Amino acid sequence: MNLDKDYFLNKYNLMLPHTEVVEAMPSLTKGTALDLGCGGGRNSLYLAQQGFTVDAWDHSENSIQKLDSICVNESIDSITTRVVDLNNLDFSGQYDVIISTVVFMFLTPKSIPHLIGNMQKSTKKGGYNLIVSAMDTEDYPCNLDFFTFTFKPRELSSYYDSWTIKKYNEDTGLLHKTDEHGNRIKLRFATLLAQKN
Ligand SMILES: C[S@@+](CC[C@H](N)C(=O)[O-])C[C@H]1O[C@@H](n2cnc3c(N)ncnc32)[C@H](O)[C@@H]1O
Repeated sequence: MNLDKDYFLNKYNLMLPHTEVVEAMPSLTKGTALDLGCGGGRNSLYLAQQGFTVDAWDHSENSIQKLDSICVNESIDSITTRVVDLNNLDFSGQYDVIISTVVFMFLTPKSIPHLIGNMQKSTKKGGYNLIVSAMDTEDYPCNLDFFTFTFKPRELSSYYDSWTIKKYNEDTGLLHKTDEHGNRIKLRFATLLAQKN
């Protein structure tokens, strides 16, 4: 497999892997990974490049088909894709790492506790969860109709009270979407990397 970080960007026009996934990599034990809401597969392909066996799940059949065809083209057999609805999903497993970057904001609020519960029980002892998702805060309110769920301050970290939190912040980030003045919309994002005790 080509191990160049921008190989899939150059050849398939995918975005670079999420910076939080790249930054977390040195902490992770190579093994099995689950990418929830994998989209076009930028993070799954990166994890596979790094030696992980990856389950890559998304509800978009189109995205999954594109990722499948990249895997066929590149003779990658370490990524297994699946079309799923994360709003209504039970799963189990023993993963070394489960990631979900910029996905939770498209889910229903009532699905979140169940989904995080499944992520936690499907992570090996010593394994990691990495979640990045949009927030709604007093200083940066989120009024976007296309986000169906946003975290409140310290809400995401509170799910991980019994884990070792390696990284948690609620820093601001810019969306590609612009406001009525043409400025990119700024929101806070909850970013969590936690290790199961
Ligand atoms: C902004 S993209 C992020 C993709 C990828 N995680 C990344 O960082 O490139 C959000 C993804 O969430 C997926 N998604 C949204 N709702 C979903 C659901 N109910 N079940 C599964 N995937 C969903 C979308 O299809 C899309 O691929």
